[in-house]
Amino acid sequence: MTAQQILILSNYLSQSFRNNVSILEVKNFKVKWCKENSIISEIMRSQLNDYLKAPILDIGAGLGDIAFNVFPNKVATLLDINEVTVKDYPLSINHTRITSDFFDYKPNQKFNTLLISHSLQFIDEDIYMLNSKIEKFDAKYILLVINDNFGFMKELLNWVNEKVDSSNPEIDIEGFPHNYSLEKKINFSATLACPTYELLAEQISYLMVVDYKTVKSELVSFLKERLKEPSFPINQSIKVFIRNGNK
Ligand SMILES: C[S@@+](CC[C@H](N)C(=O)[O-])C[C@H]1O[C@@H](n2cnc3c(N)ncnc32)[C@H](O)[C@@H]1O
Repeated sequence: MTAQQILILSNYLSQSFRNNVSILEVKNFKVKWCKENSIISEIMRSQLNDYLKAPILDIGAGLGDIAFNVFPNKVATLLDINEVTVKDYPLSINHTRITSDFFDYKPNQKFNTLLISHSLQFIDEDIYMLNSKIEKFDAKYILLVINDNFGFMKELLNWVNEKVDSSNPEIDIEGFPHNYSLEKKINFSATLACPTYELLAEQISYLMVVDYKTVKSELVSFLKERLKEPSFPINQSIKVFIRNGNK
């Protein structure tokens, strides 16, 4: 292999590592260590039903548990770059799973709502491309679930920015979504709790999309120094956006 080919391959690998998580990682985080999806689902069911207008496109749907538990009776498409099956999580008869990169997805139907729950970090590499893709859907509502990055998450972000060359944490993007206005913001907090600091460090590596092996020892020391136990709250919010001119 030539030096040029090695460079291209290494760029490709670091790019694909930074921009992807496996369904097993998603499952471990959501089912074992941070029960945020039950909180998100409860808020959506009780306070946001009016903004979940079918047909719904769930972008980076993961297991599809939010869709299954919040809007099983509404027509929805659950899109994910990874293949997800009923062996991973049940699917409502009103829902369809599609395996595709968001940017390659060209639907032949219109959606009234786009749901982006903890998946913005995987599609925000190029904000111009993201806004143009989102605008093409012309959906009335966008529901965005995102970390607010204050408290201990802020400390972690600073640590990762200082210590790690390649990371992809979830951060709010100014100017997104273009042509939409914020209608509502509901704050909540979910606890990430692991039995050991090593497991906590592994979950943080998943959250920030960093290579666990390379940060493990330093991150574990940092966590032991800063936390009394391997647990901390993740402050988050659900933001509802309405397309301009549609109020
Ligand atoms: C952190 S998980 C969130 C899953 C789910 N929305 C939730 O809140 O439980 C992010 C999901 O986005 C998916 N994803 C990453 N990049 C994607 C892309 N380019 N297109 C579609 N899905 C993508 C991942 O496979 C993963 O399932």
